[in-house]
Amino acid sequence: MHLVFALAACTVQPAQAGPTTHPAPTWKVQAHMDHHFDMASDALFAVMDGDVEAAKAKGAELSTHKPLADVPESWMIQLVEMQSASKELAKSTDLADASHDVVALGATCRACHAASKGPVMDAKNLAKISLGEGAMARHQWGTFLLWLGYMGANEDVWKLGTDTIGHADGSLPPLPEGVKALEEKAHRLAGNAGKATTTAEKAAVLSDLLTTCATCHSQIGVKVR
Ligand code: HEC
Ligand code: HEC
Repeated sequence: MHLVFALAACTVQPAQAGPTTHPAPTWKVQAHMDHHFDMASDALFAVMDGDVEAAKAKGAELSTHKPLADVPESWMIQLVEMQSASKELAKSTDLADASHDVVALGATCRACHAASKGPVMDAKNLAKISLGEGAMARHQWGTFLLWLGYMGANEDVWKLGTDTIGHADGSLPPLPEGVKALEEKAHRLAGNAGKATTTAEKAAVLSDLLTTCATCHSQIGVKVR
């Protein structure tokens, strides 16, 4: 998935250094961010898998990640928030809790990205990426786009995610009775994602969606990665 981001971010522009702050050079920030992104995205995929322990481990890793030495003062507050969100993730108790904590972590990324000039993502380029075959490939890509749009504070990418997941028809193998309700729930939530406008609504729908993916996968023993 990291490769996907490299593709998505290929239009990155140099950050504007303000007259009074001296942020770290762009390449350093980007390399550091790529690392955040890998850890946070690994946590997201662990949750999709229904693997709470793996998600917790990523949270713990991110919470001890040293910040860049020469970041502007104003970033420190946001970095501290990111670290405490990672610590919460490291303490999650079940799948619903872990889904919630991953999205809460994404909210701290989002807050800083919305305030500073965050990652540059081009929804038009992302829309060209092949989805692979089948309903699950679309679910996964759609959910990943929602995550990108959410943590990156990019409304176009969020919208692309809702369109992708909203059209995730296609056949699944015959499902056991017990998980039919989860399938319906996932469809209903995918519809709700398109209607979410505020940051809080987006967070709620993304976290419910992740919990639903994770619950079904863990009940039938599917490994996503
Ligand atoms: C303290 C502020 C801050 C926080 C917190 C933060 N970011 Fe960033 N992020 C930035 C800035 C600024 C950029 C733009 C860097 C540039 O292109 O020069 C950026 C860029 C990125 C990029 C693009 C890097 C590239 O290769 O172009 C990714 C991916 C990213 N952030 C992911 C994350 C994730 C995931 C989190 C949360 C776990 C996070 N960031 C938290 C400030 C932040
Ligand atoms: C009702 C049950 C159910 C729900 C809900 C569900 N899945 Fe799945 N998922 C499955 C089954 C069954 C498989 C294995 C069969 C397959 O690959 O088609 C699977 C496999 C996958 C795979 C592996 C696909 C592959 O080709 O190997 C991914 C990725 C995936 N799901 C993503 C998601 C995401 C993301 C969500 C939530 C938006 C989700 N799924 C919701 C039942 C579900």
